[in-house]
Amino acid sequence: MLKKKDKYIVAVVGATGVVGNEMVAILEERNFPIERLRLFASERSEGKTIEFKGKAIPVEILGEKVFKGIDIALFSAGGDRSLHFAPIAVKTGCVVVDNSSAWRMDSGVPLVVPEVNPQDLKWHKGIIANPNCSTIQMVVVLKPIHNAARIKRVVVTTFQSVSGTGKKAMDELLHQTSDILNFKKVRSNIYPHQIAFNCLPHIDKFMQDGYTKEEHKMVNETIKILGDNSIRITATTVRVPVFRGHSESVNIETEKKLSPNEVRALLSDAPGIVVYDAPEKNLYPLPVDATGRDEVYVGRIREDNSTDNSTNLWVVSDNLRKGAALNAVQIAEELIKT
Ligand SMILES: NC(=O)c1ccc[n+]([C@@H]2O[C@H](COP(=O)([O-])OP(=O)(O)OC[C@H]3O[C@@H](n4cnc5c(N)ncnc54)[C@H](OP(=O)(O)O)[C@@H]3O)[C@@H](O)[C@H]2O)c1
Repeated sequence: MLKKKDKYIVAVVGATGVVGNEMVAILEERNFPIERLRLFASERSEGKTIEFKGKAIPVEILGEKVFKGIDIALFSAGGDRSLHFAPIAVKTGCVVVDNSSAWRMDSGVPLVVPEVNPQDLKWHKGIIANPNCSTIQMVVVLKPIHNAARIKRVVVTTFQSVSGTGKKAMDELLHQTSDILNFKKVRSNIYPHQIAFNCLPHIDKFMQDGYTKEEHKMVNETIKILGDNSIRITATTVRVPVFRGHSESVNIETEKKLSPNEVRALLSDAPGIVVYDAPEKNLYPLPVDATGRDEVYVGRIREDNSTDNSTNLWVVSDNLRKGAALNAVQIAEELIKT
């Protein structure tokens, strides 16, 4: 368990990745009380440094013996590293906030979005899981609606940026775009098809039921976070040629009828949400506007005229911030408060 201190020794595991980089920036931005920041990655990053509060911090190679003395470790180096190293870190007395999918559905590990279920932090045993990026931005919006009108069913389609796959995928989109515009041959290494000027209805691997693992994550994680397995959810997740920011079309059926104005009012009062909904002025959330921002943006709020008690909305957020690094730092902030 975390001992109360004025300042903490904090580690970022996977510090050279797109999420890790953002974690370091957010720890600085939010002035997290840090006595010493330690940064870890693979041997490939040996010799690299990352800037934190005007100082170049060396990147160290991750190993089993590195965790001694570390109070809080933010893990973002892939599921295999989390599975192996998180229990080792916990044994040395460190609290781990894990950004991978390794521990999310473990019944002994809380899966937390601070605006939605901060109470679940109370029962952690050393590891706290950070949900999937597309789940986080959706549950922030579902929670106030569920509280007010009880959600019965959700139908979601996502439009997810390539930064959700990491740095190499961002490079792939950049190179493919440039190659196509220069009439060169397109090569795909990260995705099974060309991502530039294309949309891929395929995120993570396919499961036996025809859904992808990303779609399963959205369903299972949402139920765990909202703590209500009576909610029916179906998801289609799509990778689009956007560098940063995930968008989602969400259809929500509630037990009690809510008018679009009631939904607007509920969401306007909820933490972490900005309602941006003036279509008559061409104003609705866009990934380019959400990039670098902390909030979840909601627009296109309207009644679903094809059925009863249903609302359609459009949800956009920066997947590297609220969808990953910011949510992890917010969890760490909650931990040091309690
Ligand atoms: N991108 C997102 O929006 C997002 C959202 C939610 C969750 N996540 C999860 O966050 C994690 C990182 O994602 P990312 O997008 O930041 O990926 P990334 O840009 O590819 O970065 C991966 C990081 O992991 C490190 N790493 C890889 N293998 C390692 C090893 N054997 N030992 C130590 N470090 C190792 C890399 O270090 P080197 O630079 O040395 O290779 C790098 O720092 C993944 O688990 C991902 O599923 C990502």
